Amino acid sequence: MDQNELKQMVGNEAVKYIKNGMIVGLGSGSTIRYMVDALGKRVHDENMDIVCVSTSKFTENQARNLGITVKAIDEVDQIDLTIDGADEISDDFNGIKGGGAAHLWEKIVAINSTTNMWIVDDSKMVHQLGKFPLPVEVIPFGSKHLFDKLQAKGYQPEFRMTDGNYVLTDSENYIIDLHLDKIDDAHALADELISMVGVVEHGLFLDLVDYVIVGTPNGIEKSTR
Ligand code: A5P
Repeated sequence: MDQNELKQMVGNEAVKYIKNGMIVGLGSGSTIRYMVDALGKRVHDENMDIVCVSTSKFTENQARNLGITVKAIDEVDQIDLTIDGADEISDDFNGIKGGGAAHLWEKIVAINSTTNMWIVDDSKMVHQLGKFPLPVEVIPFGSKHLFDKLQAKGYQPEFRMTDGNYVLTDSENYIIDLHLDKIDDAHALADELISMVGVVEHGLFLDLVDYVIVGTPNGIEKSTR
C-alpha cells in the first residue's frame, strides 16, 4: 500500500464517527481531502443532516462542491467532532501541524471542539517532534526583524516561499518554518514562540487531540490519548 492509499483508508474510517445532527470540524491537507470526499458520499447517499466548519478555504470549497453544508465558525456553537491531519505525532500524542499553512484556523477550530481526532498514515508517527520543520504564522509587518530574532535563538528559520513569493495563509500572513531537528521541551518552546510579538500562531498542537487513527500496511490502528 502506498502513502496515498493509507491516507484514503484513514479518511474512509474517520467518517464512520460522524453521526446525524453533529457539528463537524473539517481539517485541511491531503489526508483530509480523502475524508471530505468520503463524507460527501455519505451526506449524499444517506441524506445526512450535519453542519460543518472548515479550517481552510480549500477544504470549504471542496466540501461545498460535494453538497456539504459549511458554516462560519462564529455561526455555530460548540463543534462536536473535528477530524484533521497532522505532520508529526509524538509518543505522547502531541503534534506538529501547518505543513499546508492552515494551522491557525485548525487550532481555533480544535480548541472549540469537544472531540479532536487526527488521521494519519504511519509515516507521521515519531518518538520525538522536530524533524518536520515547525511552521510559525507571522504578521508580515516587521517579519524580517522577527526572523532575525528567531535566527539569533538558533532556530534556523526559513520564510516559506513559492515561485519567489511569500506563501500567504488564509489570513494573509507569512509562514516562517523552523528547522529544529528535534524539540526537547515542546511546551516551553510553544510558550516562548507565542510570546514573541508578531507571531500569530505556531504549529505545536499540545494536549489537544483525543483520538489518533493511523493507517498502516496491516490495517487501521486507533489510539486514545
Ligand atoms: C495543514 O496546514 C496541516 O496542518 C495538515 O493538517 C497537515 O499538514 C497534514 O497534511 P497531509 O494530510 O497533507 O499530510
